[in-house]
Formats: sequence, C-alpha cells, structure tokens
Amino acid sequence: MALLNILQFPDPKLRTVAKLVTLFDDELKQFVNDMFETMYEAPGIGLAASQVDRHVRLLVIDVSDKKDAPRCFINPEILKSTDEDRMDEGCLSVPGYYEPVTRAGHVWVRAQDVKGEVFEIEAEGLEAVCIQHEMDHLLGRLFVDYLSPLKRNRIRSKLLKQQKQL
Ligand code: NI
Repeated sequence: MALLNILQFPDPKLRTVAKLVTLFDDELKQFVNDMFETMYEAPGIGLAASQVDRHVRLLVIDVSDKKDAPRCFINPEILKSTDEDRMDEGCLSVPGYYEPVTRAGHVWVRAQDVKGEVFEIEAEGLEAVCIQHEMDHLLGRLFVDYLSPLKRNRIRSKLLKQQKQL
C-alpha cells in the first residue's frame, strides 16, 4: 500500500481527459487499494484517478458514515439521470473550499469492477453527487468550473499563494 500524491488546483494536469481502462491486472488492483488508502487518509469521500496524475477512467468513493462502504467504478457511464440536488461540494484538489453546485439528484450508472465485471447501480443524494463530481475529474473538469469566474479566480489565487509558501 502507498499513499499517492494528490494534485492541487490550478495544476494543469487536472485538466487531462482520462482514457479507458483496458487491462484488469494485479497492478490495477494495487492501484485501487492505493486510491482507497489515499482517500481515507486525506480524508475524503471520493477520489478520481486524475487527481493522483493517473489519467484512466477510474474512481473510488465511500459516502458512508462509518467508512465501511468502499465502491470502485472503472470506465463509468451515466445511463440516466433525473431530479436536481444542490449541495456544498469540496474537493481534495481544492482544499479548504466548499461551494454549492447543482447536479442530478438521482443517477443510474454502469461501470466495471476491479476484475472487469460490468455492474449497474442506482444512486441518490450525496452518493449521486459524489459520483458525478468524480466523473467530472475524469473529463478534466472541477467543481470550481461551476462557480462564477470571480469566485474561481479568487480560489485560484489563494491556493497558488499557499502552494508557493510550501
Ligand atoms: Ni474532487
């Protein structure tokens, strides 16, 4: 197991569009374990491979209170989405900022598990929002993209300043 380094906004690597996962081997299993370890340690409720500079369509989430419901989605696609939900979102790549974003409140997702088996799930509320947030990362999109340019630029300059001080 290993903790992976999480890229921070406005790192341009976060804008990379991820490619499909085609090889379901032991290395992928190890990577998924590292993704979970990194997400729990952060701590966060979701992490996309793009955030750790691996540009493949893979994400992990755990929105449970007890942190005992790990879910991994490989090559995810949204089959259908309905309703609307607006909640405060944060992101491990945008540390310290929480802003409301409107997304679908109910989604049907098809994905593959770590063995390559296809599965489908239906998600609502926080879980639905979390999946959509992480799927955005795979397209190089961040939650700050939904904010006004003024707000986004303010967050960008504050984070850049912090990153220079490290
Ligand atoms: Ni995020």
